[in-house]
Amino acid sequence: MNHALIEILADGQFHSGEDMGAGLGISRAAIWKQLQKLEAMNIPLHSVKGKGYRLPEAVELLKLESLQKAGFPSGKFASSKIELSIDSTNNRMMSVAETNVSDRHIVLAEMQTAGRGRRGRQWLSPFARNLYFSVLWPFSQGIAAIQGLSLAVGLAIQRSLKEQGVQGVGLKWPNDILVNGGVANGAKLGGILIELTGDMSDACQVVIGVGLNLDIQAKDLTQIDQQAVGVKQLGGNISRNAMAANIVNHLCEVLEQFSAQGFAPLQQEWNDNDAFRGKKVKLILPSSEIQGICAGVNEKGELQLQTDEGLKAFNAGEVSLRVVTEGEG
Ligand code: ATP
Ligand code: BTN
Repeated sequence: MNHALIEILADGQFHSGEDMGAGLGISRAAIWKQLQKLEAMNIPLHSVKGKGYRLPEAVELLKLESLQKAGFPSGKFASSKIELSIDSTNNRMMSVAETNVSDRHIVLAEMQTAGRGRRGRQWLSPFARNLYFSVLWPFSQGIAAIQGLSLAVGLAIQRSLKEQGVQGVGLKWPNDILVNGGVANGAKLGGILIELTGDMSDACQVVIGVGLNLDIQAKDLTQIDQQAVGVKQLGGNISRNAMAANIVNHLCEVLEQFSAQGFAPLQQEWNDNDAFRGKKVKLILPSSEIQGICAGVNEKGELQLQTDEGLKAFNAGEVSLRVVTEGEG
């Protein structure tokens, strides 16, 4: 019922309780109850006396039917779900992992109320404008086998965006999708959050969360403490359903290859798309900082820095990579 009501509202126009009730064959009182549920889910509804309710703007909702028409690989998952509002798609997949040890699952959401980045940082997830999804993917060889996974996922997204005509997408080690070049150079387009559960030395399950900005508006930027941009702002105007279907297809393809062969076959392509290659950077470690020139990743997906003491490789962990600005070092 929630979905049916939000579909009426998706055009961004005002709809009266009476009209919506007539459209759905239910009473105005029942519509009122549903609207309250949507508001309780933090879905942004405007109401004006005498006019009715509307969403702040027209939106293209995600629908399984539309995803499938666009080639979404439902057959690869034991379940594919779309939620209107959720705390975090990663949280959902982590709880699905508690009872499903060997299946693959996917959940997509129109919004997240507690979307997360690395180290618990907030991921801004407004309603029906961007993509937020998580995949639960079992791995049989334990934690060691997933080294480089966030890089492989980034590459899948980069391939998909390129295929859909979005130019100038670069990768930032270990988990960011950035704009590489042009006026929005360096702005963050998306991020990847990988979490693990199960037996770290044997069969474990990996939750792969992807947030991809399609439409970042001025009001969003006040809530993000770095440069961010959406595909729309880069000139792309691609259907959310088509975009999601294409990305998930590329992701499944990369994950299947990665499960069998690890990161090594993807190393070259990742390095070709490295937004920081050859740049002077600093790596912020928990209790120190190291400066060097970005020298791409090795076959394990470790970041290589050319430092004063020679070439050094670093694992993705509690580390952050930043470009060194002029006069800094
Ligand atoms: P690091 O290099 O340490 O990973 P990061 O800045 O990329 O640094 P993450 O934890 O990967 O940090 O990402 C979370 C950060 O992303 C938040 O601190 C916030 O500044 C930013 N952020 C939150 N929502 C969005 C969004 N929708 N688009 C772009 N950036 C966002
Ligand atoms: C980052 O750049 O730190 C990673 C951001 C990952 C955000 C996605 S949105 C879908 C999934 N659910 C979450 O809570 N986080 C990831």
